[in-house]
Amino acid sequence: MRQDLPLFPAAASTGAHQVDAITYVWLVVAAFFSLLIAGLILYFMTRYRRRTPDGVGAATGSPLLLEVAWSAIPLAITLVMFAWGARVFFYIYRPPSNAVEYFAVGKQWMWKFQHPEGNREIDELHVPVGQPVKMIMTSEDVIHSFYVPAFRMKQDVLPGRYTTTWFQADRPGTYHLFCAEYCGTEHSRMIGSIVVMEPTDYQAWLSGAAPGQSIVASGAQLFESLACNTCHRPGPGMAARGPRLEGLFGHQVVLADGRSLVANEDYLRESIVAPAAKVVAGYQPIMPTFQGQVTEEQLVELIAYVKSLSATPGDGTPVSAEASRAGAAATGPAIAPGATAPTSRAPATPTAANPAPPGR
Ligand code: CUA
Repeated sequence: MRQDLPLFPAAASTGAHQVDAITYVWLVVAAFFSLLIAGLILYFMTRYRRRTPDGVGAATGSPLLLEVAWSAIPLAITLVMFAWGARVFFYIYRPPSNAVEYFAVGKQWMWKFQHPEGNREIDELHVPVGQPVKMIMTSEDVIHSFYVPAFRMKQDVLPGRYTTTWFQADRPGTYHLFCAEYCGTEHSRMIGSIVVMEPTDYQAWLSGAAPGQSIVASGAQLFESLACNTCHRPGPGMAARGPRLEGLFGHQVVLADGRSLVANEDYLRESIVAPAAKVVAGYQPIMPTFQGQVTEEQLVELIAYVKSLSATPGDGTPVSAEASRAGAAATGPAIAPGATAPTSRAPATPTAANPAPPGR
């Protein structure tokens, strides 16, 4: 019914229904108390009005029960509000581990998308219904914001770093995509659509669209053509000039200056465009910068490739669409022989038995 009212936008994702539920329930609760209070004001105004010009109200004493009640009841209501809100917040901000990763690059004034299978789109993103979709987003220039009202989802897209968001569309259709951050002259025209399709239609669309290679394969190709592999030599062997990248993503890295961090997308990106910023302990800052030599899309491909080197069954970092769709237990890309299979989080302090995982 409510879908028919123009007042309410279409709700087309699992998160949207949760956001709507919380909105409507609290709207009703707020309306109830507003009416109750306004009604009581009117009632008391007449019931206890001054009846003679020199009338004085009777002393009421201190009704303890009443005072406790009007503190405890609102406290209980607001605690429920907090707990429910926190639950929905965590649902919205924590992508499930089986989410498939799609990439978005914002630029003045368009949205560029890349599927894990390698398909590229501009201002239009096709996704299958019922599949958790994680968006990894960055900007080529200024701040944009990825906003899909039907999914109740809005996330800033920033230059120089990655932000993420996720959704699981639950009804096929075409939904508006807006840029929700003023980004220049044609900000208002930086719009597009999210096309949610039945899985079979989506597969047909994927194979019908310009065939490409998977994002991981593109990254692997770049890795070679940029000669990254001369220093970051894959597989076993002598220590190379650069840290080995297998098992890096999602694991602890100890830096030359003693700091340590967990290798995420932002770290990988920075290590490509500003390699001197965070040098891994035991290595020299000899890597040249690739700033300006790789586009944001290529950076995303390189990162997807490096992530694929860390994908093991069950470690919660699906990097290929095939692996993700088949479920977390499916086989990930094979670990090169001799490479340490990352089966658990590395300890904060590397020891002889648990050396720091290879960095950058
Ligand atoms: Cu991009 Cu506004």
